[in-house]
Amino acid sequence: MKVLVTGGAGYIGSHAVVELLESGYQVVVVDNLCNGSEVALSRAEEITGKKPTFVRADIRDRPALDTLFALHKIDAVIHFAGLKAVGESVGKPLAYYENNVNGTLVLCQAMEAAGVRRIVFSSSATVYGNEAPIPYIETTPRGTTSNPYGTSKAMVEKVLEDIADADRRWSITLLRYFNPIGAHPSGKMGEDPLGVPNNLMPFIAQVAVGRRDELTVFGNDYPTRDGTCERDYLHVVDLAKGHLKALEKNTKPGVNVYNLGTGMGTSVLDMVSSFIRVNNVPVPYKLGERREGDLPAFWADASKARDELDWVAEKNLDDMMADTWRWQSRNPNGYRLL
Ligand code: NAD
Ligand code: UFG
Repeated sequence: MKVLVTGGAGYIGSHAVVELLESGYQVVVVDNLCNGSEVALSRAEEITGKKPTFVRADIRDRPALDTLFALHKIDAVIHFAGLKAVGESVGKPLAYYENNVNGTLVLCQAMEAAGVRRIVFSSSATVYGNEAPIPYIETTPRGTTSNPYGTSKAMVEKVLEDIADADRRWSITLLRYFNPIGAHPSGKMGEDPLGVPNNLMPFIAQVAVGRRDELTVFGNDYPTRDGTCERDYLHVVDLAKGHLKALEKNTKPGVNVYNLGTGMGTSVLDMVSSFIRVNNVPVPYKLGERREGDLPAFWADASKARDELDWVAEKNLDDMMADTWRWQSRNPNGYRLL
């Protein structure tokens, strides 16, 4: 079976490429490298001994996609490509809607023309909005999103639902990720954000490796156990495996939506102390102001994925910490040499 992975040179996509290759799938990656690296794909080849086909193109480039589908007999698409920085999206809404929404429209049009109607889409827990009861469960309707990134995910979910309603030949899986962190246990692949990391885990790792002086904990006056925000962190390899389960189990027409998380919340301070304890490295931090838009706490009800996809997150927080540090300490500058 041949799978097209959009955004396969990025953080989560490259880990999915490894899992696909190791499970015997043929893999074609399309990525414009705006936030990914071809080195991630050579590392995937080193790990698996198998080479994914790489096409450098933008998913909004319809002729490029048509050529790709004509050259490769694709059976299914896993769609990671998109922009993902919540804060940046507030200042650049057009770029986010253009990339994430229009990109998906062009991709689906090219799929339709090529007769490929199976897609797994990277959605986010952010589509539950600001007022959903915790834990988040798939039966709760999408809520009001508070930034263009989140809204673009909710819009794409709706577009995909409408496509499936209109044509029962489409089989669509919406995977709502909680907070993916960690790295491949080989230490060869991991998260490599451009510039200052927005997310907690890569920031902690860059402080530990000496690229940044200290972490600022955004707020310690939330109504949580220790006053800092709680999130459902899951290992990126578990998340990658969830995509294979979705491909294998979700062959029926229509739309299925699954939360992918562990079902447990961990606070920012617990994350810092776990990283220090597991890796025995200092992580200087200071307590700072709240970051605008952060919710105090949320985590997944992941029972639907367990019951229907036979997927559970197998790796624990210590694995996430150890694997992040193995990656960061062996690759202090990520995929860049300097
Ligand atoms: P990433 O930025 O590392 O990977 C995205 C990849 O897509 C990059 O390699 C980038 O170069 C590529 N890309 C972007 N726009 C493109 C375009 N128009 N054409 C071709 N390639 C394009 O991000 P990630 O963390 O791996 O996230 C993958 C997906 O998962 C994204 O859709 C993201 O919104 C979603 N997601 C991520 C998180 C998270 O915390 N990382 C949480 C929920 C959902
Ligand atoms: N945090 C800090 N200091 C930092 C960075 C983050 O204290 O330097 C805190 C945040 O305030 C938050 C927690 O660490 O309390 C986690 O923050 P992240 O930015 O790592 O993750 P978020 O939960 O804010 O965002 C993630 C994804 C989004 C997605 C959202 C909801 O990055 O794509 O989950 O699913 F929209």
